[in-house]
Parts: sequence; C-alpha cells; structure tokens
Amino acid sequence: MQTMKERLLIFDTTLRDGEQSPGASMTFDEKLRVARQLENLRVDVIEAGFPAASPGDFEAVHAIAKSVTRSVVCGLARANPRDVERAGAALEPAAHSRIHTFIATSPIHMREKLRMSPHQVVERAVAAVQQARGYTDDVEFSPEDAGRSDLDFLCRIIEAAIDAGAGTVNIPDTVGYNVPEQFGELIGELRARIPNAGDAVFSAHCHNDLGLAVANSLAAVMAGARQVECTINGLGERAGNASLEEIVMAVRTRRDVFDCDTRIDATQIVPTSRLVSGITGFPVQPNKAIVGANAFAHEAGIHQDGVIKARETYEIMRAEDVGWAANRIVLGKHSGRAAFTERLKFLGFEFASDEELDRAFARFKELADNKHEIFDDDLQSLVSDAASAAAASRFALKNLETASQLGQPAAATVTVEVDGGEVTARGQGNGAVDATFRAIESIAESGSFLQLYSVSSITGGSDAQGEVGVRLERDGRIVNGHGADLDIVIASAKAYINALNKLYDSEMPVHPQLAQAV
Ligand code: KIV
Ligand code: ZN
Repeated sequence: MQTMKERLLIFDTTLRDGEQSPGASMTFDEKLRVARQLENLRVDVIEAGFPAASPGDFEAVHAIAKSVTRSVVCGLARANPRDVERAGAALEPAAHSRIHTFIATSPIHMREKLRMSPHQVVERAVAAVQQARGYTDDVEFSPEDAGRSDLDFLCRIIEAAIDAGAGTVNIPDTVGYNVPEQFGELIGELRARIPNAGDAVFSAHCHNDLGLAVANSLAAVMAGARQVECTINGLGERAGNASLEEIVMAVRTRRDVFDCDTRIDATQIVPTSRLVSGITGFPVQPNKAIVGANAFAHEAGIHQDGVIKARETYEIMRAEDVGWAANRIVLGKHSGRAAFTERLKFLGFEFASDEELDRAFARFKELADNKHEIFDDDLQSLVSDAASAAAASRFALKNLETASQLGQPAAATVTVEVDGGEVTARGQGNGAVDATFRAIESIAESGSFLQLYSVSSITGGSDAQGEVGVRLERDGRIVNGHGADLDIVIASAKAYINALNKLYDSEMPVHPQLAQAV
C-alpha cells in the first residue's frame, strides 16, 4: 500500500545567500525575474534578501513581496531591532511572509565577532523572535555556526526561541565543517532533547566547503529535518550552498529511502538553472549533476547501446523530467510575436511592459535572420540581454569595428553612449577582445581590474551565439557582466559594458554575517 509522504519544504536562498557570493549580485529587475521563476518552480519559501543591507536590497524584497503570491517570501534580519523592523516593513505587502532572524552561537563567533556572553546571545535571540512575531506569524530562527556550537547551548537557545514564537528552527553548518553522519546526529539529538521541539519544523542549511553540503542536508532529512535551505546551481559564498536540484532529485529518485517529498515542479529545474547562471554570469560546470550539459550525455559506446535498448540500464532519471527536453528547436525566422511570447512564458518569462516585449522581439527577429535554428537557450539569453539593455544604465554600446591580422596587434574602434552623449575611442591590443576592452576602458576610465573573462557557446554549431562573462573588481567591489551575440567580440563588448553599468550602479550592501549583530 502506498503511504502518504510527509512534505519536505524547499527554502530557496539563491537571492540572499547565493547573492552573497562575490560578483553574483543581481539588479532589481534580475532579482524579480529570478523570484518569479522560483515561484514557477514551486519552491515553498523564497529568501528574497536582507532588507537592512541597503536601500536597494530593501526595495527588491519589497517588490518581490508584492509580486510573488504562491511562495512564502522571506527576509533575513540579524537579531537586532532595526534589522527586524526593516524586514517587517519590506515584507509588508506579501501574501505570505516570513522573517528569518539569526545570531551566532559558536564559542568563536560569540567571543570574537559578537563579543557577547552566551546569556546575552539568548536574550537577543528571544527579543528578535518576539519582535518578528509582531509582523508575521511565520518566524524562523537560526543559530549561526550551529555546526561548531556546543550542543547544550544550542538546546537552550533553540528551546527559548521556540517558546518566543519561532515556528522554524534552522541549523546552519555555516562554514561547511560537518560530515553527514555527524550532522544527521546533531539534528536527531536536537529533536530528541529539546522539550518543545515538536512545535517547530527543523531545517538544514549547509555550506559546501568540503563538498558535503548536499550529503549533510540529506542526512538531516533522514534525521527528521523537514525543510532544506538551498540554492539554484549550489550558488553561494565560497564553495556555495547545498544545490536545490540535487536535493530535490535525490529525494524524488530515491523514494525508497526518503519518507518525504517536495512539491517542486522538476520540469522547471533546467530553465531556472539557466536563468540564474545567465544572470549571475556563474557558468554551470558540464559534469554538474542534474543541470550540467553532460548530466544526461552518454559517450561510451557501451552506455549508448544500453540506453537505446532500455534507458534504465544507465539512466536513473529522465532528462525531460528535469526540463532538458524543453531545449529543442522551437522558433525560426517566420515565427510570430504570439509564438515568441508563448514560448517565453513557458520558460518563465513575462514581460513587464509592451516596450520590453517589442525590444526583445526585435532582437529575436535580428537573431533569426542570421541563425535559423533558435533554441530555448538562445531565447533565454536574448531576453536577459534585452532586460540589461532596458535597465537604466550609464553606458550603452553603439558601434564596434575591429581589425585583426596575423602577427599584428589588433585594433578596435568603439562608440559608447555615456550619460546620453556618444563617445568614440580606439584601442590596440593582443587580439580583438583586448583591443575592444582597452577602447571601452579609455572611455569609461573606471580604473577597474579585469578578474575573469569567460566565453562559452550557448548552443552547438558554428553559428551558435557566444556567451561572454566578464568580472571586474574595483576597491574590493566585484561585479559580473554578461553578454551574448553571434560575434564573440561584440558579445565581449556587451559583457564589459554590462559589468561597468553594475559597477557604477550598485551600492556596497552590508554583509549580514560579517557585521556585528547590533
Ligand atoms: O550560513 C549561515 O549561517 C547563514 C545564516 C544567516 C543562516 O547563511
Ligand atoms: Zn549560509
């Protein structure tokens, strides 16, 4: 007899912990697009940001709270009155809101970072949870660095937080130090020893410093955790967070092992992965589970033969179940506006205005004139590009001409619109891309340092669009720009300009975990 499975809640923190990754910062519009796609993916909770970090973060959480109705929208707050107030205000328009408040509990964090006694830390936690309950009934508490905290102290602070009104208790392995058996045991011990543990959902939040984030999260689920905090593509600080797609598919594929399941629409996994990778400029490694380009590719002849005869011989999941099948040729030069909009809607894009649609459709027609097979990946990069171009920006690429000759330095002439006026400059360099970047830099005079330059092709074939990522650093601030075009030098120029716009646009937000709790 089939028994009813318990629900495992998926708490996505791509927009908060994921965004804390150096260079992964997203613009207001990009955050909204990711949030809408997470809603399509049917995540239970979207951690939309840290409202006290900056006015920009506050506005983004507020806008997401207004726009998303089918997932709970959550805001992070350190355990202090101002942060909790900011989170409450940002979440005010949400149909379903949650405040996530945290304070560090490990001896090293309390002593070195907070400079507070354990008693003061408990008092702070209780006060923050109580204050948060004044804004919403749905409050989550995290003892930061729980993975290195004293078990008795954890029991004490968690019991107090639940008494104060926390309905979710999240156990972070903040520095990715734990191993699965130990982390599962920690969750089991806490649930067994805390008298009011039954009044809260236990959650796992694991970082991937030792490559164990997913394994630790799954061990926690086996020990009774019913929420997992994770990110798309495992994005996150340092080595990242637990990857959403791996957790969801592990639990679903191994139904025989897990007595719970999620409500995720797995066919949206690949489109979401593409969207996040395109926006952040963090590529997905080809051999990444579930969403890597090779995850379902069978190269060895023996495997191919097996898969053709009976796919279960070598495949434990079906590519189409996680959204890969969607990446087929869908549109061409004769496709109209309705088909274009319809396909993008399927991929999770909705245009904010007719103007935005017109701009994206014009780009589509331009692309279709030069490339007769348009794949979903082409469409996704095209709308990302159209949205970046539409965003209020300081610099816009107007023209680019390059000349290369074997054995000679390359030359580029670039025209850029700067604050409404056009400026043209020439550059010389070791190749067309270098020359182009030098020309742009001589116009922008940003003084930034190029940390990373990456090129990949969006689809197969020599007429594929090239996708370029550029990472710039200035005074400790890191930004990623991206651009796509059939011509990789033009794609590179677009990416560089996109990064410059981010560099000039964004404020330096407060990092929640590096700053004091006050
Ligand atoms: O890793 C961590 O401890 C966190 C907390 C803010 C939950 O991200
Ligand atoms: Zn974290």
